[in-house]
Amino acid sequence: MAKKNIDWGNLSFGYIKTDKRYVSNYSDGKWDDGAIIEDDMITMSECACVLQYAQTIFEGLKAYTTEDGRIVIFRPDLNAERLANSSRRMEMPVFPEDRFVDAVAQTVKANADYVPPYGTGATLYVRPYMFGINPVIGVKPADDFQFRVFTTPVGPYFKGGAKPITIKISDFDRAAPHGTGNIKAGLNYAMSLHAIVTAHNEGFAENMYLDAQTRTKVEETGGANFLFITKDNKVVTPKSNSILPSITRRSLMYVAKEYLGLEVEEREVYLEELGDFAECGLCGTAAVISPVGKIVDHGKEICFPSGMEKMGPTTQKLYDTLTGIQMGRIEAPEGWIKVIE
Ligand code: PLP
Ligand code: COI
Repeated sequence: MAKKNIDWGNLSFGYIKTDKRYVSNYSDGKWDDGAIIEDDMITMSECACVLQYAQTIFEGLKAYTTEDGRIVIFRPDLNAERLANSSRRMEMPVFPEDRFVDAVAQTVKANADYVPPYGTGATLYVRPYMFGINPVIGVKPADDFQFRVFTTPVGPYFKGGAKPITIKISDFDRAAPHGTGNIKAGLNYAMSLHAIVTAHNEGFAENMYLDAQTRTKVEETGGANFLFITKDNKVVTPKSNSILPSITRRSLMYVAKEYLGLEVEEREVYLEELGDFAECGLCGTAAVISPVGKIVDHGKEICFPSGMEKMGPTTQKLYDTLTGIQMGRIEAPEGWIKVIE
């Protein structure tokens, strides 16, 4: 194995083309056998359903090099399950869950030279996705679909890595009460683009979206769920039907309870109680846990006692335990780690 000549320690969260990708096509009501290919370009009709009506869904997970030099992926079965849920909601065929895990494993293996070495802080981000590819002009689902997996080596999602960020309460909504907020559809991200550009232009790293119906409850950001730590060290995460069920968040809640012995609570979190929390973090595959130091609500600042210099102590423990499990330093719960061989 010859690792690529990449400055692993200075990667940002950007796209770097790797050598191989996986593709499988759905046509005449069935998926073909799928294959690893080299061509990164996709040719399709000008009227492809994905281009006209945004029929596209995706997933995100990471491959890690462990302390003892193995390549592993984290809970890919949950990504397979979530993509299947996204497919059903978007009138797309389900890519069989066992084949999903196999396709991800094959793609990571084919790009093993791009998996960042242990200790560099970088990882290989894996992006499975599916889209409607045949021409559609009346509003209806496609008949033909393509499922693909590509990989790209990445560094931290937020500039500055583990440094606390400042976010704003968005005036835009991300998801409607009975909409698509709980699945991973491209359309949820399309509608967040204006909001994130607006936030960045105002100097904020991210948006906190509120529930669209009452605008009193915390939902999530454009790409991560929230975790809060109370002053008596309880881990609280917002409960809502219109947020993405983050695999990182579900894993962290388990880690908090079972590894760290903390009390955990999934419940509605109100905007007006934010000032009562001791720590706040964003969690997701890309974000890992990114600490939030300050939330700005139309000029009113909510500053967490953990400050703007470093992660709060409980967030740090959660971070260390989760990344310890992912990098093979801490024993993982049964079934969480799949070794790529
Ligand atoms: N919420 C949104 C909107 C996301 O895009 C993501 C990223 O996948 C998450 C939360 C975190 O989910 P996960 O931990 O499964 O990556
Ligand atoms: C992920 O964390 O995998 C995501 O898809 C988030 C995205 C905003 C990069």
